[in-house]
Amino acid sequence: MARLAIYPGSFDPPTLGHLDVVERAARLFDRIVVAVGSNPGKSALMSVEERVDALSASVKHLPNVEVATFKGLLISYAAKQGASAIVRGLRATADFEYEFQMAMVNRRFDAAIETVFLMTKWEYSYLSSSIVREVALLGGEFASLVPGPVVEPLRRAAKRAAG
Ligand code: PNS
Repeated sequence: MARLAIYPGSFDPPTLGHLDVVERAARLFDRIVVAVGSNPGKSALMSVEERVDALSASVKHLPNVEVATFKGLLISYAAKQGASAIVRGLRATADFEYEFQMAMVNRRFDAAIETVFLMTKWEYSYLSSSIVREVALLGGEFASLVPGPVVEPLRRAAKRAAG
């Protein structure tokens, strides 16, 4: 049976850490769907369409990876797609409580879908979308923190936000 994993996130913007996690997941599962969702607690910088386009271009070299969007509960989306796992990246301890909570709630909803945590490369372990957003909004250099196809759309989104 082909194993499908959903890699969900806000990806606002996608970072090199995200790409590293996708590459790891793509070696473990038959198929990966990178699913762009909206986190109700966060206001977005890049539009969903910009994120999907930038992600699609960033994973072009991975034949078993596709990019999609989802609305509503992640676990319902994952079940509907026939996924056996949800992949999440785990960085320092700061991520743990939130991730643990999400994994437990998702398991309560559907125990057949396993949450799998993958660690990024050491050099990306400090990277987060929120730090990259802040750097971009303040006009700092961020091109070394995101995949190539993310640079221009993120620059445009930051300009737009600055007014
Ligand atoms: O990259 P993020 O912001 O940490 O991603 C969070 C995301 C989008 C995966 C999470 O907010 C989510 O799953 N949202 C969908 C709604 C949902 O299922 N919430 C309950 C999770 S326990």
